[in-house]
Amino acid sequence: MYNRYECVRGKRLVLTPYLPLHVPTYHKWMTDAALLATTCSEPLTLDEEYENQQSWLASTDKLTFILHVPMTVLSEMNVPSEGLTSLDLDGERLVMVGDCNVFVPLPHVVEDNGGVEVEVMLAETRFRRLGLAREAMQLLIVYATCRLGFRSFVAKILESNVDSRNLFVHGLGFRHFKNVPVFDEVHFVRYANDHDVETFAVTSGYSPSGLGELKLVLP
Ligand SMILES: CC(C)(COP(=O)(O)OP(=O)(O)OC[C@H]1O[C@@H](n2cnc3c(N)ncnc32)[C@H](O)[C@@H]1OP(=O)(O)O)[C@@H](O)C(=O)NCCC(=O)NCCS
Repeated sequence: MYNRYECVRGKRLVLTPYLPLHVPTYHKWMTDAALLATTCSEPLTLDEEYENQQSWLASTDKLTFILHVPMTVLSEMNVPSEGLTSLDLDGERLVMVGDCNVFVPLPHVVEDNGGVEVEVMLAETRFRRLGLAREAMQLLIVYATCRLGFRSFVAKILESNVDSRNLFVHGLGFRHFKNVPVFDEVHFVRYANDHDVETFAVTSGYSPSGLGELKLVLP
């Protein structure tokens, strides 16, 4: 995977690859019917989720980052910390809050606008409407542009997912591209020019760094 040893920091988020220690919490998130529906996901057993995690790590046509909020940031956000999963990255305590993904279309598939697909999920609902999904997408778009060379991005959103449509259109400047009634989807696209990337990088506080896999440990 492109991001296997990479970590991205923003103003409030830390993005890391999806590692085995994330799986129990991720699996628990994905037993929620509303999350399964909005992300068009199928429920997996815990063993299947471990396989899924390995597949994300090994894949060359998709990548995922797990979204974390550092405890120091959490204490400034006025969000309760009870019941959240925290882990340790190089001595810093982080709380898992969601994920974001990039899917690269296969060469023979003509995709919307030639773009790569992007997705985001704030699984811990107490962190919603705080601008974290927007920060995550800005970080991901800057990463995908600077590290992977992509410029065009597509968001495929269920017709009924008003929150996500608002995020991409009003929060991130995507524009309507097409409706796909057979999947109840609407596709939105965004081209990121140099000015957009610079703006996203500054707004989100983009800062890439390496990650030694063994440095990320459970308490
Ligand atoms: C959609 C989702 C990712 C939004 O996450 P979030 O962290 O709450 O979004 P943000 O706080 O970053 O919102 C940024 C902007 O998006 C828009 N927005 C997001 N949620 C909104 C809502 N419920 N109502 C209206 N506007 C909304 C607003 O313009 C918002 O800016 P503002 O708060 O300054 O008005 C989150 O609701 C989620 O994870 N839903 C379930 C999974 C999902 O649907 N993922 C998308 C699959 S395509």
